[in-house]
Amino acid sequence: MNRLGVAIIGAGIGAQHLAAYRQLADKFKPAWICDLDLARAGALIEPDEGIELTADFGEVLADPDVDIVDICLPPHLHLPMTLKALEAGKDVICEKPIACSLAEVDQMQEAITRTGRRVFPVFQYRYGRAMAQLAHLMDTGLAGRAYTATLETHWSRGADYYAVPWRGTWKGEQGGAILGHAIHAHDLITQLLGPAMSVSAELSTRVNPIETEDCAAIVMTLKGGVPVTSSVTLGAADDRSRIRIMFEGLTAQSADEPYAPMTGAWTYAARAPQDQALIDKALAEIPEPRPGFAGFLDAVHSDLATGSASAVTIEDARHSIELVTAIYQAARSGQRQSLPLPRNAPLYAGWQPN
Ligand SMILES: NC(=O)c1ccc[n+]([C@@H]2O[C@H](COP(=O)([O-])OP(=O)(O)OC[C@H]3O[C@@H](n4cnc5c(N)ncnc54)[C@H](O)[C@@H]3O)[C@@H](O)[C@H]2O)c1
Repeated sequence: MNRLGVAIIGAGIGAQHLAAYRQLADKFKPAWICDLDLARAGALIEPDEGIELTADFGEVLADPDVDIVDICLPPHLHLPMTLKALEAGKDVICEKPIACSLAEVDQMQEAITRTGRRVFPVFQYRYGRAMAQLAHLMDTGLAGRAYTATLETHWSRGADYYAVPWRGTWKGEQGGAILGHAIHAHDLITQLLGPAMSVSAELSTRVNPIETEDCAAIVMTLKGGVPVTSSVTLGAADDRSRIRIMFEGLTAQSADEPYAPMTGAWTYAARAPQDQALIDKALAEIPEPRPGFAGFLDAVHSDLATGSASAVTIEDARHSIELVTAIYQAARSGQRQSLPLPRNAPLYAGWQPN
């Protein structure tokens, strides 16, 4: 397959996407950076790199050399820009959250079916050595049944972060720490152990003067009955993400690397001391995969080349939005919410207050 031409739309997190495309120069050719702030976009590129700048999304869509439109815009723009790109015959990579309601994800899925193009939602936290280690320990039976897990998304966000006008608002960000921050940890645990079947939640705004939540305590039960607790705040002293999974055969624990928990050094402690050597031997066999955005984009390239579905799928992203919807519903009703949610669920069209 030839190198795929890419247009990055949005020069914030788009800068990290560009860095990953540069690592995969045999697979992707970054062709455009599109941002309303041309100076910000221009600061990302090298003069001789052959990347063009524009503030006009239409110009990008009209370029036949663009195969992939990579959307790195505020959440409320994800659906409309994705639909335009699909209609223009492009495949799409889109930052999290994929959309702002279940209704929007379903609209996106209809457009995927209609156009025959693909949408790859970004969940780059999945890409790192620990994901491969955990999968191997689960596949070989060394981990055994999962009993329970705890997640911590304890980050620090203050006035600087919320100086960007769309953040912290229902209209721009569409949600708070549940939608913007803990979505990664929730994706990881459901990807590893199975989808959430029920959830209860307490959400509050305690740290910053914003409209959306910045603290949460969530209890979810995953398929098979695994109870998981998720503690979330944007008012910690520093940024740490931590995951602990208690399996029948071992306890797996992440380091506290905040934005790439699968790349840090995890520990895997056997419950029966005689199994530790087996676990250590199994782990030594795992090759180091490409981490983070580069790992994700590598999987996207492979899927487009072979028609496979190894990268994050639209169904995965739909489940993440379904879980967000259920969390808001549970917090507001004060009642446990079961999943999957039907199309007539009260917040199917969106959890945002009017
Ligand atoms: N995967 C991750 O770990 C991760 C990390 C940070 C942000 N994000 C997500 O990425 C998205 C963008 O976040 P960010 O932090 O980069 O935001 P940002 O505000 O820093 O950057 C967004 C950019 O989009 C540009 N823009 C806005 N409207 C536009 C339009 N119509 N056409 C062209 N450009 C436009 C803005 O000028 C701005 O430069 C959000 O959905 C966020 O949740 C994901």
